[in-house]
Amino acid sequence: PASTAEPQPGDLGVGGVPLAEIADRFGTPVYVLDEGEVRDRCRTYRHAFPDADVVYAAKAFLCRAMVHWVDEEGLGLDVCSAGELELAVTAGFPPEKIVLHGNAKSPRDLETALRLGVGRIVIDGPSEIARLAAAVGPEGRQKVMVRVIPGISAGGHAKIRTGTDDQKFGLSISDGYAQHAIARILDQPQLELTGLHCHLGSQITSVKPYLSAVRRMVGLMARLHEQHGIVLPELDLGGGHGIAYRPGEPALDLTALARKVRAELIAACAAAGLRVPRLMIEPGRAIAGPAGVALYHVLAVKRTGSQVFVAVDGGMSDNPRPALYGVRYAPRLVGRHSAVPTTPVTVVGRHCEAGDVLAADVELPEDVRPGDLLAVPVAGAYHLSMASGYNMVGRPPVAAVADGRARLLIRRESLDDIRSRDVGL
Ligand code: LLP
Repeated sequence: PASTAEPQPGDLGVGGVPLAEIADRFGTPVYVLDEGEVRDRCRTYRHAFPDADVVYAAKAFLCRAMVHWVDEEGLGLDVCSAGELELAVTAGFPPEKIVLHGNAKSPRDLETALRLGVGRIVIDGPSEIARLAAAVGPEGRQKVMVRVIPGISAGGHAKIRTGTDDQKFGLSISDGYAQHAIARILDQPQLELTGLHCHLGSQITSVKPYLSAVRRMVGLMARLHEQHGIVLPELDLGGGHGIAYRPGEPALDLTALARKVRAELIAACAAAGLRVPRLMIEPGRAIAGPAGVALYHVLAVKRTGSQVFVAVDGGMSDNPRPALYGVRYAPRLVGRHSAVPTTPVTVVGRHCEAGDVLAADVELPEDVRPGDLLAVPVAGAYHLSMASGYNMVGRPPVAAVADGRARLLIRRESLDDIRSRDVGL
């Protein structure tokens, strides 16, 4: 078996700060975000898509610092609730650069969006049209887009595929619901339709489905032009750009995506006699995911039958992704070097169910023991944003590292926090 004696690059820490130092200072479990890496990833997108609007999908991870970084790097923001929206705007994000999504927008979501003046509201279903028009009021006018289902199957797992007719988001082209809704929107003077939106799914590692989406969407734009004489100025292709969770896994090639999508868009528009719309993309995972590391302490090591279980002080309440989507991570021992050979182990959490597995069948040194520090790389997206209150362990804090210094962004949820919400008897 391989030895882990060789120092790994990550052992040096994140953003110039040793991981063990961060664990000491903030306790574990803790999530560490590399500010420089978030900013670099924003810049990579801006460079790859110089004439598109890059809109960060806040659902991947949001806090006030993240709002500032994304804003300073020139991105827009995709939100899907009044909560994300209020946090962003109160942190200073320009509302006109915000896009509001949601298949079931609450009255509060719509009221907040209109009050704060969000740039675009993406209509996801027919019942939203009259509701939104009424909320805008006779004097107002709100820019909207329509989320359509292009009929393309793509994405890392069935639960995160959204390009086909058998899921809840958007309006289907194939059965005419999208066209029907668009006709109704065009009848509402309070709503200004700026373009079409689609989101194929998440953790997509091939460029091809995006090219199919371009063709389908431009096809629909051409039909709308014929039927209604409208030329829609915007096309939002959503997010879904896949990343590697373990060394050697494929990731979506952003440069190829940018180049091919642009070429396809220009060709499809030329063939349809349409002006090329402004492109929008909505990456979430690819910006936040690789910039985050989760740190856990080992609490227990147990051998049962043929298995070695390494139990840590977090689990499915801070990272539900292995349980939900079967995602595989590559945890590593940090903070000490072990010269002994590795052995296959299963890293489990502390929660009260057998499905609380963070990483099955991974290699850790044979002498892994309670008190050891484990780092789980690629933990910046859809971990804390999906964290739950299961077993009342409290959600972990988030620290940011930049220029060799760590600072706290989100504090640990304390037992007092949990108890204070319990107001009845
Ligand atoms: N735009 C829309 C309209 C979306 O619904 C999403 C993600 C995105 C953009 C960003 O997708 P991304 O670039 O991050 O793949 N919890 C799942 C992922 C759910 C994604 C939901 N929508 C996971 O942990 O894999």
